[in-house]
This record gives sequence, structure tokens and C-alpha cells, in this order.
Amino acid sequence: MEISIFYPILFIIQLRVLPSFSFTSFVFGDSLVDAGNNDYLFTLSKADSPPYGIGFLPSGGKPTGRFTNGRTVSDIIGQVLGATSFPPPCLAPNTASNAIHDGINYASGASGILDQTGLLFIGRLSLKEQIGYFSKSRSYMVNLMGEKNTSEFLKKAMFSITIGSNDVLNYFQPPIPYFGDKVSPEVFQDFMVSNLTTQLKRLHYLGARKFVIAGVGPLGCIPYVRATHLIPDRECSMEVNLLVRGYNKKLQEALDRLNKDKGYEAVFVYSNSYEVFRRIILNYHQYGFENADGPCCGGYFPPFVCYKGKNANASSALCNNRAKYVFWDAYHPTEAANLIIAGQLLDGGRDVCHPMNIRQLHLHSFN
Ligand SMILES: *[C@@H]1O[C@H](CO)[C@@H](O)[C@H](O)[C@H]1NC(C)=O
Ligand SMILES: *[C@@H]1O[C@H](CO)[C@@H](O)[C@H](O)[C@H]1NC(C)=O
Ligand SMILES: *[C@@H]1O[C@H](CO)[C@@H](O)[C@H](O)[C@H]1NC(C)=O
Repeated sequence: MEISIFYPILFIIQLRVLPSFSFTSFVFGDSLVDAGNNDYLFTLSKADSPPYGIGFLPSGGKPTGRFTNGRTVSDIIGQVLGATSFPPPCLAPNTASNAIHDGINYASGASGILDQTGLLFIGRLSLKEQIGYFSKSRSYMVNLMGEKNTSEFLKKAMFSITIGSNDVLNYFQPPIPYFGDKVSPEVFQDFMVSNLTTQLKRLHYLGARKFVIAGVGPLGCIPYVRATHLIPDRECSMEVNLLVRGYNKKLQEALDRLNKDKGYEAVFVYSNSYEVFRRIILNYHQYGFENADGPCCGGYFPPFVCYKGKNANASSALCNNRAKYVFWDAYHPTEAANLIIAGQLLDGGRDVCHPMNIRQLHLHSFN
């Protein structure tokens, strides 16, 4: 009895006492975090038709350009940390003023660290172009509130960069003659890390101080790679995962160096998406999933189109319960998986986020 009376009161008090931290984030990356930029591009990489977004409440289940059934990892992290709305895509009309509220999303499906990544999809914003758009947002802010206030504002904002998967996937595709011979995996990893480092330094120069850089996940285990590499159920492509692990290791070393160089002035958090996602796939039953092999939408075999036509016969296969699937389509996790990933990145230990987790980064202040 007492508990049932007390509980609502405690809840109200807690809401009052908690300081209202605002949360601003600038989101960079690929389709894992694209919130609709590709809807404004001429591109083959789009998530603008049902059933994409089928579980996304703010749109009433309509597609938003997100490459999943609901929220992305960065949507969820923003919500938990107090964002009042999702940062809008930078290419959407009239979004400039969002820079000083919830932030802006620059991510673009099919894009990569390297400029040529995603070429076959035609339109996409490479990481370099995404930061070019951020630079425009920054000019807007400086016009509005001056250099000094802009710097102070950006110091508190979170800059998340989730990119690299498409570079790896492109590396394993048959070579495009125009680009010449394939470099070795080691040289390719070095290209990725050095190009990414250049862009991180550019963001730092533009005022970013709180960075979250995602490592690449175990791509050897995604339905697309498993099907195209003829990998049996419950197994992953070793070749692809080896390249990813090598890249992640070099990325961590590069971020360690940046943290040393820019210590006290900026924090570069490495988020170990590989480990988090690997654990989910290995122990999927413990996390409440029933399927960690195939996609909920689009079936197990190429061409993996996830599409819902007006008449049911023109639709691709859709699973009955998307909450029980790790994969939404052949490339991307379901919202159910994104919720687990977001929770781990927010509050996980040093094995998940290094040198601090995302909640700690949010609360961190520079002197
Ligand atoms: C900058 O911030 C200060 C302190 O918060 C404020 O008084 C001032 O009006 C701001 N300047 C501009 C141009 O917004
Ligand atoms: C970036 O990657 C390209 C290959 O795409 C490479 O030729 C170039 O040297 C790299 N740039 C840097 C700064 O490492
Ligand atoms: C869908 O296919 C089934 C059997 O193949 C057929 O009986 C049905 O009429 C089709 N429905 C539509 C709307 O075309």
C-alpha cells in the first residue's frame, strides 16, 4: 500500500529535482544513423518506402529515411540524454536554426570515410562533405551569437561519427576497373584511419570537443555478407571480420594519440560497436531475440530488397515479430537491437567505451 502511494510522489519529486540538462548533438555517418538526408539526393540508397519506419512513433509508422524499423542508436542516445526532438537531416528545408537546439544530422546512407566509397549508389554525402555542411551550420551560429558563444556552445555538444562500414563492404566488392588494383588490407585500413583522423582534426578545428567515434561492427556476420560469401548459419565471414578488427585496432590507437595530444581540451571516445554487436549475436536468446541470422524484412537471399507494395503480393517477406530479430534488413539492425546497443554505449564499461562511456562524456565539462 505504502509503496503504491509513494511511488508517484517520488517520481514527481525526482522530475523536479533533476537539473534539466539540454542535449545537442551533431551526427555524422552512414545509413546506420542517417535520419533522412538521402531522401533529398538522387541515389539508389534510400529508405523512403514502407515498411521502413513501420515502428517509428513520431512519424506514425511512415518512412523517414531511417534504414531501420524505428529509431537509430543515435536517436535513442539523444532521447535518453534529454534531447527534445531528433536532430533533423541537414538537407531538409529550414533546418539551420536547429543547430542551436537539438543539433543536426549530416549522416548519409552508402557514404564512407573515403570519398569514392558508395560510388555505385550515385548520390551520398561523403564524410568530408558532411563536415563541409557542418561548417555551414557553424557559420550560421557565428552570425547568430558570435564566435565566443558559438565556441562555448559547441564545447558542450556531442559529435558522433558512425562510419567505415561501407568502406569495408566496398573493399570486398569486385574491383571497379577505373580505380586500379586493390591495395592490401593493411594499406586499406591505414587509408581509412588516416583519412578519418584528418576529418576529426578538421571538426576539432571547427570547435568540436566531445567526440564519439564508433568502430565498425562485425560485418562478416550481417545477412548480406553471409549470403554473398556463402557462410552457413550461425557463422561469420572470418576474412571480413579480420579486416574490420584490424581497422578498429588502428582506429583505437589513433584515438589514443588524439586524446594524448588534445588532453584537457577534447575527448575522443572510442565506442566498441564490434564487441557490443558480437555479444548480441552470440547470446541472442539472452537478449530476447529468436533470430540472429536472417533479416526481418527482405528475406535471406540476394537481392535483399525490403519493400512493401500497394498489393501484398508485390511486397517482400516481412517477419511476424520484428522485436525478435537482430537484423531488420540485410545490412541494418532492428530498433530492438539498437536499443540494446544504445544502452551499452551509454552506460557500459571500459571494454565498451574508452576512455569513458557516453553518459560520462555528456556530463564531462572542460575547464
Ligand atoms: C553571449 O553570451 C552572453 C552570456 O551568456 C550573453 O550575455 C550575450 O548576449 C551573448 N551574445 C550574443 C551575441 O548572443
Ligand atoms: C586517404 O585515402 C586515399 C585512398 O582513398 C589515400 O590515397 C590517401 O593517401 C589518404 N589520405 C590520407 C590523408 O591519409
Ligand atoms: C496474390 O497472390 C495470390 C496467390 O498467388 C492470389 O490468389 C491473389 O489474388 C493475389 N492478390 C493480389 C491482390 O494480386
